[in-house]
Amino acid sequence: MILIKLGGSVITDKTQYKTFARERTERLCGEIAESGVKTIIVHGAGSYGHVLAKEYSIQDGYERPEQIEAASRVHHDAMELGMLMSQTLLDIGIPAASVAPGSCFVMDDGRIAPDNTEPIRAMYEMGIMPVTFGDVVMDRKKGFGICSGDQMMEVMADLFNPERIVFVSDIDGLYTANPKTDPDAELIEEVTEETLRKVSSTSNVDDVTGGVRGKMEAMLRMCNDDRDCVLVNGTVPGRLLALLKGEEVTCTVARK
Ligand code: IPE
Repeated sequence: MILIKLGGSVITDKTQYKTFARERTERLCGEIAESGVKTIIVHGAGSYGHVLAKEYSIQDGYERPEQIEAASRVHHDAMELGMLMSQTLLDIGIPAASVAPGSCFVMDDGRIAPDNTEPIRAMYEMGIMPVTFGDVVMDRKKGFGICSGDQMMEVMADLFNPERIVFVSDIDGLYTANPKTDPDAELIEEVTEETLRKVSSTSNVDDVTGGVRGKMEAMLRMCNDDRDCVLVNGTVPGRLLALLKGEEVTCTVARK
């Protein structure tokens, strides 16, 4: 099984509140189906999550009453995107069920406590693809917080032990600097803890869950001797399909 995260930057327009990138999402789901590889999908919230979460600092936990309505709105919007994702998958014949992380798990000071995994495992064993996502989740210490899709990737990797982990984003991989603003930025094809230390911390997207660097740190935690973690550009048609078929593609691979 391959665990795939479809980043919010590929399935939504991250700059416009609640804009679903329908065509691109349909193409990517089509590539996953065409590959014939058994997969589990996690997705980001993109502009269904980050815009409002940032405005009301939901990631910092409960601080003031106005956040209550905003937290419930962000959750509602993230669920809406979850529905769009499961609809897209069902339409191409993949039996998928959207699972909000906050319906199974709570967080403890920003970390998911995966103590009720039975519903997700049972779905998978039945042949239903559990599709989970970045969302607002209640937190024992902070009241609520943001559980990113990347955090859910770590939970799903522990639960299902995938042979490979793929992050689909809107960049070719990790760069030495931000490729959108720095023309000298170079693609790093293989990242280790050593190389990450040398990467500029400005090669980051301005979002509430840590951007590319945070993703790389998560990827390094998830790879092991038998499993690599790959960051690939989903805006290039056919690239995800080629990767899933085991072909060489432009990407960054995280290795222990
Ligand atoms: C964000 O999840 C969750 C919310 C802001 C509600 P992610 O951090 O995984 O989303 P993307 O992939 O960056 O959009």
